[in-house]
Amino acid sequence: VNINDLKTLDPPERILMGPGPSNVSPRVLAALGAPCIGHLDPYFLQVMNETQALLRALFQTKNGLTIPVSGTGSAGMETCFVNLIEPGDRVVIGVGGVFGTRMTDVAGRLGAEVTTVEAEWGRAIDLDDLRRAAVTKKPKIIALVHAETSTGVRQPVEGLRAIADEAGALLLLDTVTSLGGIEVAIDAWGVDAVYSGTQKCLSCPPGLSPLSFSDRAMDVLKKRKTKVPNWYLDMSMVADYWGESRKYHHTAPVNMIFALREALRLIVEEGFSKRFERHRKNHRALVAGLEALGLSMLVAAENRLPTLNAVIVPPGVDEPKVRQGLLADYGIEIGGGLGTLAGKIWRVGLMGHSCTRRNVTWFVTALEQVLGAQGAALRPGAQEAISAVYRAS
Ligand SMILES: Cc1ncc(COP(=O)(O)O)c(C=O)c1O
Repeated sequence: VNINDLKTLDPPERILMGPGPSNVSPRVLAALGAPCIGHLDPYFLQVMNETQALLRALFQTKNGLTIPVSGTGSAGMETCFVNLIEPGDRVVIGVGGVFGTRMTDVAGRLGAEVTTVEAEWGRAIDLDDLRRAAVTKKPKIIALVHAETSTGVRQPVEGLRAIADEAGALLLLDTVTSLGGIEVAIDAWGVDAVYSGTQKCLSCPPGLSPLSFSDRAMDVLKKRKTKVPNWYLDMSMVADYWGESRKYHHTAPVNMIFALREALRLIVEEGFSKRFERHRKNHRALVAGLEALGLSMLVAAENRLPTLNAVIVPPGVDEPKVRQGLLADYGIEIGGGLGTLAGKIWRVGLMGHSCTRRNVTWFVTALEQVLGAQGAALRPGAQEAISAVYRAS
């Protein structure tokens, strides 16, 4: 790189239909570009309060500690485990993809004794398996991924609290690819620790991780025998900055919080149930179009996430070439498979600002062309199938 000869930043316009980030509304970008002010400025303190109120509404919780952690979704994951685990604690983790696996790595590094409950990638964790592990191990935490972005599986949450109660455990949930796209109801579900990410269904750039701890989780944090081994993510100190004392901990990413506030305000304006219905409808249309082409989904209908659609790559198709063609010729970004699903699936996101009828229609048109150019045998009628979904609803 010749640093004296760099051009003005001019990123290409993309249609972001991968596993995240999703497209960002111009209103959110404008908030990001608002004048930076001090992280203890009275105006900013008010913005912090408003952002917390918006997050509580979206998480459907009354939890006091409901804040955006400074860092991406993985920082939220790390925050949950690092605050709630002490060396030797037992943890039961549902693993059906990359992000469940990441949880085991994070918890293991903290000295937890990790028991995994595995599901085949593309399937939800079986709650009988989970219950068996939970009552045998009596863990401190049971952790699951609500929306497994690597597979497109929606993990059912009904019954999780009962299992956690039977085991006397805290319930921890990853809602990175669900919050803002499908319902998340932390208090009703009895979730004790939850985190998300800004760049998926909230349609805000990556950089913050909304997080919430129940009173039960706060109690576990208060009663720790050892200090939280990570200074930056220690919620007992960060909570003081977000709470009444406003005690400085680290400089808040001011403009990212402006952007998140605007992204959340957009969600409130749209209305939660309307927004979730928009995600469901566009998902149904997408699946109808893909199936009309003759393609198949990885996940059984009852466990499909509307926000992340895993499509099986047909035999004989050059998988990366399809993604390259979509990007180069149509401006569409989708994701490939991760881990054991690499080369076997495409991951098509319908998240927040990217989740539109126009994008569904354009993507299926583009995919038909790109696959057709590779000689794939496709059936006609995809656009009719898509239109029929919108006509019917
Ligand atoms: C379910 C899930 N959990 C955690 C993460 C980690 O988030 P990030 O990449 O923002 O650190 C992701 C990112 O894709 C995710 O999809």
